[in-house]
Amino acid sequence: MVSSQPKYELIQEVGRGSYGVVYEAVVKRTRARVAVKKIRCHSPENVELALREFWALSSIQSQHPNVIHLEECILQRDQLAQRMSHGSSSPLYLELVETSLKGEITFDPCCASYLWFVMDFCDGGDMNAYLLSRKPSRKTNTSFMLQLGSALAFLHRNQIIHRDLKPDNILISQACTPAGSPEPTLKVADFGLSKVCSASGLNPEEPASVNKCFLSTACGTDFYMAPEVWEGHYTAKADIFALGVIIWAMVERITFVDVETQKELLGSYVQQGSEIVPLGEALLENPKMELPIPARKKSMNSRMKQLLREMLSANPQERPDAVELELRLIRIACRELDWDM
Ligand SMILES: Nc1ncnc2c1ncn2[C@@H]1O[C@H](COP(=O)(O)OP(=O)(O)O)[C@@H](O)[C@H]1O
Ligand SMILES: [Mg+2]
Repeated sequence: MVSSQPKYELIQEVGRGSYGVVYEAVVKRTRARVAVKKIRCHSPENVELALREFWALSSIQSQHPNVIHLEECILQRDQLAQRMSHGSSSPLYLELVETSLKGEITFDPCCASYLWFVMDFCDGGDMNAYLLSRKPSRKTNTSFMLQLGSALAFLHRNQIIHRDLKPDNILISQACTPAGSPEPTLKVADFGLSKVCSASGLNPEEPASVNKCFLSTACGTDFYMAPEVWEGHYTAKADIFALGVIIWAMVERITFVDVETQKELLGSYVQQGSEIVPLGEALLENPKMELPIPARKKSMNSRMKQLLREMLSANPQERPDAVELELRLIRIACRELDWDM
C-alpha cells in the first residue's frame, strides 16, 4: 500500500548515531507513543545497515519482552510511503537490496529515500544513563543480568547474532508494575550490525546453529569485542564475550571515559601502565592472561566469578552458549534472592 499521509507525528529527537536519527513519536490515530528511527538511504553503507536491522527484526516470529519490537518498517521516497515486507517484490525494496549487494547506489541519488523503523519507545534511556545515574543496586543488577541472558538466548535460538552488544544499545523501558512502582525492563536494540544465520550444512531442514556459523567481518565496538573478532573469524560466542564485558562492568561498576564523546560508559578493561586496554585486545596479545575477576573483594559469589571467567575466556569454545548461560544466570539469581531474604 502506498500512502502520502503520514501516520506518525514526530515529537522530539532522542538519539543520533552515525547512520540515523531516532525520534520520540506518536501514532496520530491512537496517540500511542512509539520510537521512530530514520535512516537516509543515500549511501550503500547506510542501506546495508538499514537492511541488516530490518532483516533481523522482521525475521523474528514472536516477540520477546527484552528485545526491541519492530512495529513496522516504512520506505519513503519523496512524498510517498510504503510498508516494507520481507522478500517483497516492490521495485523500491529490490533497489535497496541491489544497492547493498553491489555496494553502489543503483537508483537516482537525487530522490531522497528513507527507511523509518517504528519500534516500542523506551523512556528510561540506555543502560549507561540508567545505571550510572543511580546508586548501585544488587536487585537491579540481578534483574538486568537475567533479562540480558533471556534476550540473548532468544536471539541465538532465532539464529540472530547481534555483533554490537554494548550498554548504549541496551535500552530501558519503565513500565509500571500492577503495584504502581516502575519496573525497569531491558530491551536489546540496534540490530544494524547483526547477522541472521540461515540454514546450512548437509540437511537444509536442520536449523543452523549460530555457534557453528562462522563470520569474518570484524565489526562491533572495540571495548566489547572478543579476541577472535579482532582476528576476523568468529561465531555467536562473540556475543557471549560482549555480554561478559557488560555484566562484569555492571556488577562491579567499572567505567571508562569515551575519548570522543567524553561520556562515562560501563565496560570492563585491563590496566596496562597508564593505559586502559579492551579485554579482547589484551587477550589477543596474551590468551593466557588471567583477568582480575572480581576486581573488588566480595563483590560477587564464586559461581558468578566462575561464569564471568568462562564468558570472557580467550577460547570461544570454553565460553558457555546462550542457552547454558541463561540457565546459569537463573541459578545464580535464585541464590542471590535467597541470600537477600
Ligand atoms: N526504541 C527507542 N526508544 C527510545 N530511544 C531510542 C530507541 N531506539 C534508539 N533510541 C535512542 O537512539 C540512540 C541510537 O539508536 P540506535 O538504534 O542505537 O542507532 P545507532 O545505529 O545510531 O547507534 C540510542 O542509543 C537511544 O538513545
Ligand atoms: Mg547504537
